[in-house]
Formats: sequence, C-alpha cells, structure tokens
Amino acid sequence: MKTRICGTGSALPEKRVTNDDLSRFLETSDEWIKSRTGIGARHLAVEETLTGLTARAAESALQEAGVKPEELDLILSATLSADHILPSLSCELQRELGAVNAAAFDLNAACSGFLFALQTADAYIKSGQYQTILVTGGEILSRLMDWNDRSTCVLFGDGAGAVVVKADETYGILGSVQGTDGVKGDVLSCENRKNQNPYIAGTKDSAYVSMNGQEVYKFAVRTVPGAIHAAVEKAGLTIEDIDWFLLHQANIRIIEAVSKRLHVPMDQFPTNLQECGNISAGSVPILLHHVNERGMLHKGDKIVLAGFGAGLSWGASVLTW
Ligand code: UT7
Repeated sequence: MKTRICGTGSALPEKRVTNDDLSRFLETSDEWIKSRTGIGARHLAVEETLTGLTARAAESALQEAGVKPEELDLILSATLSADHILPSLSCELQRELGAVNAAAFDLNAACSGFLFALQTADAYIKSGQYQTILVTGGEILSRLMDWNDRSTCVLFGDGAGAVVVKADETYGILGSVQGTDGVKGDVLSCENRKNQNPYIAGTKDSAYVSMNGQEVYKFAVRTVPGAIHAAVEKAGLTIEDIDWFLLHQANIRIIEAVSKRLHVPMDQFPTNLQECGNISAGSVPILLHHVNERGMLHKGDKIVLAGFGAGLSWGASVLTW
C-alpha cells in the first residue's frame, strides 16, 4: 500500500514586505538580501493566525482531494510557531474544519517538519491504522524573530501549506529517509520562555531565533544531496528518473549547490523563495501547491521533496504523482 498526495493547498498572509521595506528600519539592502539569498519579498502575518492560514490551506487541499473533513482519520501539523502552546495547532484545526473523526497532534522538526510529518503519515497508512490524513506545514515565524537582527529576520516569512494523503495501490511515496544531528543543534536555535517558578532568580527576557548562517549553509550543502541520493535509491530509481526536485526554500545558493552536485539543471528545481522567503515547515507544502496549481505536475511524474534545518535535521521522500 502506498501513500498518495490527493490534494494540496496553501495560504500566505496579505501583508507583502519587500527587501526595500525592510531597509527602512534595518541596516540592509535589496542588493545584499537578493545576492546572498535570492529572496525578494516575504509575507508577514498582521491580522492572521496560524490556525486561520492553515485552515485555508487545508480547505483547498480537501477540496482538490474530494475529501470531507469528517472523513479524515488524522490531522498531523508540522510547526514550531503554533498560536498556542496548548491546545496544539492540529487540535485547533480539527475544531475549525469540523474534522470530528480525526485524531490530531503537532510535530516539531523545524524546517524538516513537513517531511517528517508526511513520513509519519506514510507509516500510519502502511500500518493500516489510518486511510485518510491531513498533513500540514506552516509557521508564523515573524513572532519568533528579533526584528533588530538583520542576519536572521530578513530570511524568514509566514504562511501555511497542506496536503491530503490517502492509501493507494499504485501511486504515492516510494522511498524516504530522515536524519538528525543533535550535536550541532546550537547553530540554529530559539530558547523557550524562561522558567519563572518561585525558586528561580533572574531576568525574564524574551527568546528569539538565533543562527550561525554559515554553519547551517555548510550543513545543508553537505547533507541534502546525500539524503536525496539515499531516498531515490530506496525508491528503486536513479536521479535521472526524477522530474522535479522540491527543496526547502532557505536560500537560492543552497538549491543551486544541490542542483550542481546532483548534475541536474536548475529548471527541475522550482522555487518560490523569491516571493515567500523561508517559511520553515511551510516551505515544501506551499511550493508543492504553487507548482500543482500552475499545472506543472503530471500523473506519474517522479518527485523528490526535501527539507533540512534546525535540529539539525533533514528528510527526503520520493513519490509518484
Ligand atoms: O532553514 C534553514 C535556515 N537557515 C539557512 O538556510 C541559512 C543558511 N545560511 C545562509 O543563507 C547565509 O549564511 C546567510 C544568508 C544567512 C548569510 O550569508 P553569508 O554570505 O554567509 O554572510 P555572512 O553571515 O558571512 O555576513 C557577511 C556580512 C557581515 O558583515 P561583515 O562582518 O563582513 O562586515 C554581516 O554583518 O554581511 C553582513 N550582514 C548583512 N548586511 C546587510 C548580515 N546580514 C545582513 C543584512 N544586510 N541583512
């Protein structure tokens, strides 16, 4: 039995912020951001909640899949920036969608989160426990940014993506890999809020994302090509069999380096980071929806999805569309 993606959806906040907009309050420039990352703009949540954005993405995925909310067995949400610590995003989605028969839980594997969630859904379907699952990935990372730190805040954006997966005899996920290197975890981190119990003295400062960009860059360029090779091999295919490579949208230079190492031209690596920035767990499902809604995917296409980021963590899956 395979796990087939039957519907995709995405939602971005209304507020679009260009690099020039950022340079009005930060010492940065369109030239620096574009030349180092490829990013031209990002969307930032002002009125929107992550639950609202993800529900919009999910509704579109359900509609394309022809699945009613009450037919869902499980909702699995990858995020590190849910609206609340409790209840989780997936529980809020279950309520919003009226998915009354679905169990729901969140999963945090940062920028690899959507791949980890998709692979978890695949394991549930292969085990026979569930047949129809909503998998989402999304973030409001702008709530975790230090807006005075130009080395991080210019890179990230907000948004959500979703897919509906179903058990299928023929089409779907053929092979997957995932990995973690917790020893290097401090190169991309964000503190939780401080413990303020009565026995602890000290300051009550806020916590923001901090990153050693060059270390993350080196990790990505070294790890992602190997992970893609391993997933393709597990799928019983070769790199030449793959039609599309949909990678986490962190930096155009990382994607170009992967394309070069795999000896695959960049036109097989669709991107949307120019308009979206890095949306962590939202990156891959939003890109998948953008490519799907443009009619670029054809039945039987072989697709690689790959995510990488904090943890450090990485995951790749190969599927037949
Ligand atoms: O989901 C995974 C998330 N993370 C990533 O994918 C990050 C991977 N890393 C990267 O994408 C790159 O390392 C960055 C884009 C973050 C940085 O590019 P870089 O070429 O590694 O630049 P750098 O950190 O070496 O900084 C070069 C200079 C520094 O100035 P000095 O020390 O040379 O005077 C920075 O202070 O650029 C400066 N700088 C900026 N200047 C203008 C850093 N951020 C900015 C900025 N605008 N926004």
